[in-house]
Amino acid sequence: MGSLIGESDPFVKALRQISLLARCDATVLLSGETGTGKELAARAIHYLSARAGGPFIPVNCSALPETLLENELFGHTKGAYTDASLPQRGLIAEAESGTLFLDEIDGLSLTAQAKILRFLQEGEYRPLGGRQPLQADVRIVAATNANLVEKVKAGTFREDLYFRLYILSLSLPPLRERSEDIPLLAKYFLKKYCRRFRSDYKILSPAALMKLSSYAWPGNVRELEAVIQRAIVHSPVSLIQAEEIDLPHAENPPRRGYPFRTLKRRAIDTFEKSYLSQLLMTHRGNISRAAKEAGKDRRAFRRLMEKHGLIRQQFINAGQGDAQVI
Ligand SMILES: Nc1ncnc2c1ncn2[C@@H]1O[C@H](COP(=O)(O)OP(=O)(O)OP(=O)(O)O)[C@@H](O)[C@H]1O
Ligand SMILES: [Mg+2]
Repeated sequence: MGSLIGESDPFVKALRQISLLARCDATVLLSGETGTGKELAARAIHYLSARAGGPFIPVNCSALPETLLENELFGHTKGAYTDASLPQRGLIAEAESGTLFLDEIDGLSLTAQAKILRFLQEGEYRPLGGRQPLQADVRIVAATNANLVEKVKAGTFREDLYFRLYILSLSLPPLRERSEDIPLLAKYFLKKYCRRFRSDYKILSPAALMKLSSYAWPGNVRELEAVIQRAIVHSPVSLIQAEEIDLPHAENPPRRGYPFRTLKRRAIDTFEKSYLSQLLMTHRGNISRAAKEAGKDRRAFRRLMEKHGLIRQQFINAGQGDAQVI
């Protein structure tokens, strides 16, 4: 299972929800923009739950045409249609005693939605061509990056299924709302992919980190992961420079939906924290020297450290092991 990395308030809240949701055996709906970690969260819920010993079966509800998907989910009986010479178990049966992850649930046809609703309510489903309902002990975790309320209004998503799913729901925050996590995630991906690509260990220059921290990340964590992979490959030396951070949408207009002041405050906070951390690392926790380089007096520097929850001790061993990255 991949690790869920992040320590910002919105992310820690989400982590807490994940462990609560794992403890009860009810249906869950995960929402959030693309790349925010919905599948990772679904796996975490499964592996932290009493069903961890059972299978975790993911299925993308938008990837297959309607009838093929129903066939996948519910299976079919012998002779259900022309090519069905043998009966076939569906994914619901495969997921017995485990978790079925219905990704992009908004892609389910109305017929499949009705069947899933019935399964959620009665614990029963019918394979294609079958007369006898079958039972399965399966927990459903669903995910969507669509606005289901809009889909309900448009008549493409059943309202009763929506309400059934909505009871336990968790929305994963987009990366731009937890930009404090960007340095941590970047470090995690650097470590992961330097190892995987058998590359020397690389670190980010302060300007490169600044570039990452001030970007809006429409593709969220997945996009950050890809950008770090590219930077590792393209950087000729171990210090990754800002120019080697390739952001396709960097020239796009600023994030929308927030007042200018909020965005400016956030960008400044992110900058301050990473700037201070970088200086403290360079000077191995020596506040006087870090303050001097910043052109600030020691007390003002300490106040800024407190504001961002930075503790001198964290930086004393910087430069040993991997603590020096970002
Ligand atoms: N908090 C996190 N810590 C570490 N890695 C993460 C985190 N969140 C997401 N990732 C990584 O980002 C990538 C995208 O995550 P995931 O597939 O779970 O997103 P998703 O919300 O399901 O996206 P989509 O809606 O596009 O399917 C994965 O490689 C995942 O491992
Ligand atoms: Mg996904």
